[in-house]
Amino acid sequence: MLLIRKLRDLRAVLDAWRASGAAIGFVPTMGALHAGHMSLIEAARRAGQRVVVSIFVNPTQFGPNEDFSRYPRDEEGDARQCRAAGADLIFLPPVEAMYPPGSVTRVHLSKLTDTLCGPFRPGHFDGVATIVAKLLNLVQPAAAYFGEKDAQQLAVIRRMVADLDIPVRIVGCPTVREPDGLAMSSRNRYLSPEHRRQATCIFAALRQAAAAIAAGQRDAAKLRSDMRAVLEASGPLQIEYAEVVDAATLQPLEQISSSALLAIAVRIGGTRLIDNVSIAM
Ligand code: PAF
Repeated sequence: MLLIRKLRDLRAVLDAWRASGAAIGFVPTMGALHAGHMSLIEAARRAGQRVVVSIFVNPTQFGPNEDFSRYPRDEEGDARQCRAAGADLIFLPPVEAMYPPGSVTRVHLSKLTDTLCGPFRPGHFDGVATIVAKLLNLVQPAAAYFGEKDAQQLAVIRRMVADLDIPVRIVGCPTVREPDGLAMSSRNRYLSPEHRRQATCIFAALRQAAAAIAAGQRDAAKLRSDMRAVLEASGPLQIEYAEVVDAATLQPLEQISSSALLAIAVRIGGTRLIDNVSIAM
């Protein structure tokens, strides 16, 4: 497995791979890797691609009061996991390489970013879209793999790729969960044992709402208030949203009549956690 930090070295290796006829599968990450990331690497491997993993804690997607400086960084552990999962190359650029002095361009998407996490994290999706566009331009993969846990991020990236005619297939991969249902996330390691136990309320609320829909409930307001009740019963926490949105537009629904997304964002002991369940009709 190669470990590359310089953009020109990355381009040279990938040009040679492409010239030899290899297809490249790309897994962009911010490191602090877990089983969810491994499932993305495995999906790329199953597709018979050379697997490139980027590890870059992207400053432009963090707000001024967010956790950029304390975001977990574990280069050695990440490299070990990537090697074990069969990645072929890790790209670890320094911040100055991705945002050299004078760089001012940002990719902004409207509408899709007006709901869910957008209002709570101003500028976040501009940062995500910008870095993903840059990484896709650098790596030029046949396919890029993203987790469905970040459903709004996935929708934003699909839209951006379509709008900017970026020639890549975006593959969404199912959320990987702990045995008790908590969605895997690099931020789970911030949780105290007590908050870790409480965090199971997120998937419990989503699962209960999904079961209610399966039993015939179509009233989105009732689903929202029932999800909130499950979250609030778990102990002290701050609910950012417990939403029922259209799966394609991410706009809030009144009635469930087509594919929907149940989505939650909460802060437990200061740690922001998100999760979602999609409902096919
Ligand atoms: O999901 C993430 O880890 C990040 O948002 C991404 C897509 C790597 C962009 O920095």
